[in-house]
Amino acid sequence: MANFDQINPPHRLLMGPGPINADPRVLRAMASQLLGQYDPAMTGYMNEVMALYRALFRTENRWTLLVDGTSRAGIEAVLVSAIRPGDKVLVPVFGRFGHLLCEIARRCRADVHSIEAPWGEVFSPEAIEDAIKRVRPRVLLTVQGDTSTTMLQPLEQLGDICRRHDVLFYSDATASFGGNPLETDAWGLDAVSAGLQKCLGGPSGSAPVTLSPRCEASIRRRACVEAGIRTAEHRQGEDEMIYSNYFDLGMIMDYWGPERLNHHTEATSMLFAARECARLLLAEGIDAAIARHKLHGGAMLAGIRGMGLEVFGDMRHKMNNVLGVVIPPGIAGEQVRQMMLNDFAIEIGTSFGPLHGKIWRIGTMGYNARKDCVMQTLGALEGVLHRLGFVSPQGAGLQAAWDSYGAPA
Ligand SMILES: Cc1ncc(COP(=O)(O)O)c(C=O)c1O
Repeated sequence: MANFDQINPPHRLLMGPGPINADPRVLRAMASQLLGQYDPAMTGYMNEVMALYRALFRTENRWTLLVDGTSRAGIEAVLVSAIRPGDKVLVPVFGRFGHLLCEIARRCRADVHSIEAPWGEVFSPEAIEDAIKRVRPRVLLTVQGDTSTTMLQPLEQLGDICRRHDVLFYSDATASFGGNPLETDAWGLDAVSAGLQKCLGGPSGSAPVTLSPRCEASIRRRACVEAGIRTAEHRQGEDEMIYSNYFDLGMIMDYWGPERLNHHTEATSMLFAARECARLLLAEGIDAAIARHKLHGGAMLAGIRGMGLEVFGDMRHKMNNVLGVVIPPGIAGEQVRQMMLNDFAIEIGTSFGPLHGKIWRIGTMGYNARKDCVMQTLGALEGVLHRLGFVSPQGAGLQAAWDSYGAPA
């Protein structure tokens, strides 16, 4: 055992649906020395993280913080804290991650209702409002960008609909955040959760979450303070307690708030990563970062089509940062992925469920939303496909990408 080498991963260009290569500046931030939990330097960084993510989520929400764990931890924290057993929830499902919301809601003992759209499509606001009228849910659970299908659900009009019907409005923005527009306050979202490993250019392991005052109030009604740290001033909530300690957002708010009431030990290195991800994105400008994802996602799309490959789904609703590519007949999808990895050190994604074996998913996100990454991936894919007998005019994909970038011929 003592003979294991030091970690020294092979070089890879990660062009799948996430994770992607982390920005070196994020990795450097993570290498910083640790601090004690209540060191003013540490609590100062926590406050900075709250401010940075308020700007990124485009919200005034006081409770904008990190849940320690991957994006799924953020989802689970919101759902277990916002949903009381027996609450009716509605989930519009248009891919794998909608099914995940249903499953987590069922574990919260919600009365789960779903509507389904074929994979590759999204819902109209009218379809969601009709379902709300029929089901009368307390909470609407949506996915903004479902990486399994590469589709982006429009959320702009759903906040007004939720207000009209007194419904709490949540979205899982893990895969879309930072590369597609998200306006927490302007769109009337009550809770949003995200992750670092997609458009934010960080590793997985920290889940930024924002909660509206309305959502906070419903969580506060379930307040619970651990017996060992409770004082005479602490009040238990009037509603049922939240059925998770780790994901109790009331406790997590108390830890991030001025009382600094002890809960978990904040994952310091991940907090440094999350801070650097947000700092970099805000320094670039949110709109500029979205435009960058659109530009490079557009070039990838043009290149793939230029090669004569078909793309998957309704292109009017494609996420900026990931593309579904139909595996052509007669081509072994896994062999292509292996050759991309072994011969070019480029990873592209496979797919799940009904799309398994039918599409590859190619990402252009975060640190890898760059021209050189797009051109390398297209060049390698063209070479591999030629080798396996998929004939297209040599170099057509790269030429189409150059055209999309507006490069002089
Ligand atoms: C839309 C969406 N939600 C949730 C997740 C789960 O994230 P994690 O693996 O960080 O828990 C992913 C991961 O790909 C995702 O794309």
